[in-house]
Amino acid sequence: MTLDPARHGPWAVIPGGSEGIGACIARRLAKLGISSVLIARKTEPLEEIAEELRGLGVEARTLALDLTAPDMLERVRAVTDDLEVGLLVYNAGASLRTGPFIDWDLADVEQVIRLNVVGQTTLSHHFGQQMAKRGRGGIVLMGSLAGVAGSPSVITYSGAKAYSQIFSEGLWWEMKQHDVDVLHVVVGQTDTPAMARLGITYEEGEGDDPDMVAQLALDNIAKGPVVVVPNMQEGFDQLTNPDRKGLTEQNAAFILSNTEGTWD
Ligand SMILES: NC(=O)c1ccc[n+]([C@@H]2O[C@H](COP(=O)([O-])OP(=O)(O)OC[C@H]3O[C@@H](n4cnc5c(N)ncnc54)[C@H](OP(=O)(O)O)[C@@H]3O)[C@@H](O)[C@H]2O)c1
Repeated sequence: MTLDPARHGPWAVIPGGSEGIGACIARRLAKLGISSVLIARKTEPLEEIAEELRGLGVEARTLALDLTAPDMLERVRAVTDDLEVGLLVYNAGASLRTGPFIDWDLADVEQVIRLNVVGQTTLSHHFGQQMAKRGRGGIVLMGSLAGVAGSPSVITYSGAKAYSQIFSEGLWWEMKQHDVDVLHVVVGQTDTPAMARLGITYEEGEGDDPDMVAQLALDNIAKGPVVVVPNMQEGFDQLTNPDRKGLTEQNAAFILSNTEGTWD
């Protein structure tokens, strides 16, 4: 079964809904009649997407918030407590930097963990409780191929995405007892504004289209616990082999061939 407004509406909460995959999901939901609460740090892109959604005939609320803030849940509750939230799509999660772990400021390491591990867990707990009581709903958590094997240069991000996948798998099992869907989406190289800001640009047809990822997530919401974007399926299958040492070495060689030689 694909996304169903009667099961996954009338409101969605989308942390990271102001651009890229999150905004594409909000647009697709609006076309199905589902309203959205969009959360991100920058106000202007939030307001732009919200206006677009209203133009499609649904309601939209915005919350300008850094999801790593200690009072994140209180701030989210302030704009959602009066709503029936049938869908959580936790999209925000990209790593804020790269490079050897021991060269990072600990504050940056903690931010990656707060944005991914703490953020996904806290909001899944909060909205999951409400969905379980209603006996319907859906939770979509964004992952990465980096979460399937040790990934030097982004090891905290990679560990956080591994957490997300294993957490999603267990949550999927627990929540199906309450008729709530859970899906972890293994995202590949995707042509998002966040990647462009990092200087990563793609030739025509090279990076995945964020709207394709949005459609994949919504089409597979009831086919959890994990869906992999088609371009990454082969890599996912290789990286889930049991030779953890061999595949980390192989992954490191691939990453180092694409980054500056900080390990020389
Ligand atoms: N793009 C790829 O190639 C790729 C590859 C693998 C996995 N993924 C996964 O796909 C998801 C989306 O990735 P993306 O490339 O679009 O980048 P992203 O930076 O994770 O997502 C962009 C959205 O998240 C918001 N955001 C980022 N950090 C935030 C924070 N601390 N607090 C609140 N909002 C925040 C951004 O708005 P503001 O900047 O205004 O806050 C924007 O709405 C992530 O989970 C990422 O790990 C992406």
